[in-house]
Amino acid sequence: MHFDVVTIFPDMVLNSALNGVTGRAIKQGRVGLSVWNPRDYTADRHKTVDDRSYGGGPGMVMKYQPLKDAVDNAKGSINAERVKVVYLSPQGIPLTQQLLNENATLQQLILVAGRYEGIDERFIEDECTEEWSLGDFVISGGELAALVVIDAISRLLPGVLGDDESAQQDSHMHGLLDYPHYTRPEIIAGKQVPDILLSGNHKGIERWRLQQSLGRTWQKRPDLLLDKELTTQQQALLEEFKIELKNK
Ligand SMILES: C[S@@+](CC[C@H](N)C(=O)[O-])C[C@H]1O[C@@H](n2cnc3c(N)ncnc32)[C@H](O)[C@@H]1O
Repeated sequence: MHFDVVTIFPDMVLNSALNGVTGRAIKQGRVGLSVWNPRDYTADRHKTVDDRSYGGGPGMVMKYQPLKDAVDNAKGSINAERVKVVYLSPQGIPLTQQLLNENATLQQLILVAGRYEGIDERFIEDECTEEWSLGDFVISGGELAALVVIDAISRLLPGVLGDDESAQQDSHMHGLLDYPHYTRPEIIAGKQVPDILLSGNHKGIERWRLQQSLGRTWQKRPDLLLDKELTTQQQALLEEFKIELKNK
């Protein structure tokens, strides 16, 4: 997967993406990342990428042409068939694990980060296949949203996470929250790691973890269970979890 971020703050994207899991994936060549600054596609002395809003009102609007030229250059930079141009926007589809999973097989994902009041509507209509949102709130620019997408998709790509970091067990991958994790020491402030995790009984540990996943999803995000069809075994584990909780 090659990510291209169209942004007037390329360093903000590079400085962040080159750390941790994404940084390692980029260095290993498993993920590609390029940044395209609309200012590089301006002809005036001030490298102007924004202008006043027609109809008046506060704030500036990003101009069509520098964004279009940046996207065209991004498109021509690698030979990819499965390409999407996504505008990060508070008006977009809210990001979910499912949306990210569905897009993890793209060859190239061009992410357009807006600033100011946003970007000229005609650019969104002509150039952007989709709009994606971090959620129902407004941030100052699309760069942080682009970084979230890059991180969340990169960890799904083959070889990016080691076996011990597998994304498959993470929250939301299968519609449930992750089970609780513990590390040494065994006792902290009188609180002991659950016995089953020290038992070496792998089947028992698997059962406990599934039950915890079900139980904490029911406790913390019951909405996730509404659309999920539980197997008979999962239902029984959840019932047991509820009874144990009541008897605590
Ligand atoms: C200050 S915002 C503009 C908001 C715009 N006036 C509106 O209300 O829809 C500037 C840029 O930040 C990005 N942005 C803001 N909130 C976002 C969100 N929830 N998800 C993704 N991007 C967001 C977009 O790229 C947007 O163009």
